[in-house]
Amino acid sequence: MGTVKCIGILTSGGDAPGMNAAIRAVTRSAIYNGFQVKGIYRGYEGLITGEIEDFKTQNVSNIIQQGGTILKTARSKEFKTPEGRQKAFENMQKEGIDALVVIGGDGSLTGARIFGEEFNIPCIGLPGTIDNDLYGTDSTIGYDTAMNTIIECVDKIRDTATSHDRLFFVEVMGRDAGFLALNSAIASGAEAAIIPEDRTDADQLEEFINRGFRKTKKSSIVIVAESPKDGGAMHYAERVKNEYPQYDVRVTILGHIQRGGRPTAHDRILASRLGCAAIEAIMEGQRNIMVGIQNNTIVYVPFIKAIKNDKTIDRSLIRVLDELSI
Ligand code: F6P
Repeated sequence: MGTVKCIGILTSGGDAPGMNAAIRAVTRSAIYNGFQVKGIYRGYEGLITGEIEDFKTQNVSNIIQQGGTILKTARSKEFKTPEGRQKAFENMQKEGIDALVVIGGDGSLTGARIFGEEFNIPCIGLPGTIDNDLYGTDSTIGYDTAMNTIIECVDKIRDTATSHDRLFFVEVMGRDAGFLALNSAIASGAEAAIIPEDRTDADQLEEFINRGFRKTKKSSIVIVAESPKDGGAMHYAERVKNEYPQYDVRVTILGHIQRGGRPTAHDRILASRLGCAAIEAIMEGQRNIMVGIQNNTIVYVPFIKAIKNDKTIDRSLIRVLDELSI
């Protein structure tokens, strides 16, 4: 593959606030540096079906403040097949796209890695997911906004929990990761967090009850990371109802409210910086990397490392939560 002239951009997987700011940054930085840009709709699906449009700077006007993604998104099953990727490659050739910027989470960057290697295409990934579960970046685009949405909701739940002396289990997203749960628990002053990273240890509910969670408090909030395996907040509420019938228990599942809304300043700045860095990476001849941020510095992380799913929870945060919830 020769010099890059035209860059395709797509968003894929679950949407995240700040994706639009990233689309804007990639588009404008690319145009500023003399590239042509094409917007690809509905993630890899649109690459397969040819839903592709020329992008000028006006296409990304007035979107930095909007949640969701103007390019729309999808989780493409067809792109997982060699035939699907072949169709995608043919469309790229037809459109004259010779490099791709993919904004998404784990699954989306896995797709970019396979596609990039298979067809020798420069693919650059930007971490876009509320889950913050990509290795090699301190924060993903959307994580801060989702966190702020969660604490705004939990603050409201706290009002009613206090009024009724109730124990609330609040379920938050995160797929297999507990970053949202643990950090939102600290930020909202919750009494405990039940997270997948801790699940191999003791029974977290048992621990919480044994610590005497109601010795000094009449109401409590426990943040539970979603988990299809463990049944999430509902499961814990049922257990408490059966084992400790003296407690008045309620459940709130925050759900997709966590994925929407105007991105915070943090996510807009992060998305803007990462978007510009993606174009810089292409100009440097980088390929098959995710652009991330570590200690406020832009870094390039090979896809293979970013998607290995071994971003660890800082266990000192568990202690902070325990100490502060007495
Ligand atoms: O990866 C983002 C995420 O919101 C996860 O936290 C959650 O498990 C999943 O996507 C939900 O996916 P969907 O929107 O397809 O229900």
